[in-house]
Amino acid sequence: MINLSGKTALVTGSTRGIGRATAKRLAEAGARVVVTGRVEERAREVASRLREETGSEAVGVGLDVGDPESIERAYSKVKEIFGGVDILVNNAGINRDVLFVRMKPEDWEEVIRVNLTGTFLMTQKVVRDMMKKRWGRIINLSSVVGFTGNVGQANYTATKAGIVGFTKTLAKELAGRNITVNAVAPGFIETDMTEALPEEVKEAYLKQIPMGRFGRPEDVANVVVFLASDLADYITGEVIHVNGGLF
Ligand SMILES: NC(=O)c1ccc[n+]([C@@H]2O[C@H](COP(=O)([O-])OP(=O)(O)OC[C@H]3O[C@@H](n4cnc5c(N)ncnc54)[C@H](OP(=O)(O)O)[C@@H]3O)[C@@H](O)[C@H]2O)c1
Repeated sequence: MINLSGKTALVTGSTRGIGRATAKRLAEAGARVVVTGRVEERAREVASRLREETGSEAVGVGLDVGDPESIERAYSKVKEIFGGVDILVNNAGINRDVLFVRMKPEDWEEVIRVNLTGTFLMTQKVVRDMMKKRWGRIINLSSVVGFTGNVGQANYTATKAGIVGFTKTLAKELAGRNITVNAVAPGFIETDMTEALPEEVKEAYLKQIPMGRFGRPEDVANVVVFLASDLADYITGEVIHVNGGLF
């Protein structure tokens, strides 16, 4: 039985999709949850729904992970309300898909800024408090395409492969402080991000998935909650794939 009572979890980009399902699972396990998204109002609405559904303490805070000032503001609010963060899920992510020859520097930079620099900035913001407490869990969202590559996603795949190196290095640097750092690499999960793909691309993906279905946000959330729990005490620097056998 996973019990996260007494712990505070912050999930970046938890107004929708995988982040939202993760925030819910963490709340169900008893954690206090900070729901975040770029629009504070929306984050508050989702947090309010979470309080109703799970009875847990949840707050909504506006947070753009690509903006250091926004991170600063959000974290000082969280410190005021809950005193800090024990579990950080670096989930916020975007894609700007285009074939490499047509990829503009802006497409490259924006995806790096949110997915990779955002993960760096967010982690650096919360990690000092975790080090003082000598307990912490950091879980980063990679992707199967960070391992396989994918046409039209040179920017996105670079960030998702980069997350793996970042995770492994931090795991080594922070292990002595009892902070574990792991990554989850989802395959094709049904969210707004994949909803935008053309029907024929989705069908082609489906044919490659041995389990014969797309993943649900909860399939990923379950693994994140496991990694956040005491059951995963001795796991660090690891990547867990959640893809129905795709890779
Ligand atoms: N879906 C998949 O098949 C799949 C596969 C592999 C990996 N992943 C990874 O899993 C993570 C979640 O994906 P998803 O499919 O759930 O995405 P999604 O449905 O598009 O949701 C993205 C979330 O990130 C937030 N967000 C976007 N830009 C942000 C920013 N600059 N600062 C803070 N929050 C921001 C959005 O909130 P607001 O719009 O409210 O700001 C939203 O809550 C991503 O890292 C993605 O790369 C997804």
